[in-house]
Amino acid sequence: MEHRIRHYDLEQGALEIQYIEEFFGEFPRKKTASDIRGRLAGRRHCILMAEAPLPEDPSVVVPVSFKVGHELHAHELEPKLSDLVARLQGAIRFDGRRVLYSWIGGTRRDWRGQGHFRALTEEQEAWALSQGFDEIVVKTKNRFFEMRATLDHLQFEVIKYERHHADNHESKVYLSKRLGRDTLRRHRSRRTVVRAPA
Ligand SMILES: CC(C)(COP(=O)(O)OP(=O)(O)OC[C@H]1O[C@@H](n2cnc3c(N)ncnc32)[C@H](O)[C@@H]1OP(=O)(O)O)[C@@H](O)C(=O)NCCC(=O)NCCS
Repeated sequence: MEHRIRHYDLEQGALEIQYIEEFFGEFPRKKTASDIRGRLAGRRHCILMAEAPLPEDPSVVVPVSFKVGHELHAHELEPKLSDLVARLQGAIRFDGRRVLYSWIGGTRRDWRGQGHFRALTEEQEAWALSQGFDEIVVKTKNRFFEMRATLDHLQFEVIKYERHHADNHESKVYLSKRLGRDTLRRHRSRRTVVRAPA
């Protein structure tokens, strides 16, 4: 299967992410366009979406999966990011290295299991390599079994496990993938990537 991917600029991408987040009923804290602009403006970032036809009307193509990543610096001012960097101490090296934080992503329920998230992940890796990044970091929770299983298939390594004091379901799991010469060689998806707006 050939995956269709759009690589968005910040303005359009923030609106598209806000739109697709509405389809993820299982997650209450949805990101708005303003959250996305606030986080990504002024830092290197990558907003990717996969599109696919509607099963009931294949002439209509809709966004079905997304992935947003941004650069993470050793010294961050924004409280959430400085907290993340502090938690990653000892698990990630920042000195002289470029780290991409894979911030948010998911696939709409009806399109899961079709390889869209692999295609987006591989495209994010290709972009990250082209931008000189050394490593991609991602954070999830113990209870997100689908995401943990997927990250396992995508060969992310666990770099830290942070136990929640009261409820192990809520414990945080940090994973990463180091990028190198053989990263692209391992990729399996077939993708067409369009810059949007063109
Ligand atoms: C996790 C998620 C993004 C996977 O998206 P997807 O488009 O279905 O994933 P893909 O079809 O590209 O699958 C990628 C790989 O993961 C594997 N995988 C996907 N879902 C899986 C599952 N539930 N169990 C086991 N493996 C799974 C696939 O087999 C595939 O591996 P392969 O390429 O080696 O065969 C999607 O299920 C989702 O959005 N879940 C909710 C998001 C979430 O949990 N967010 C929590 C915040 S971190």
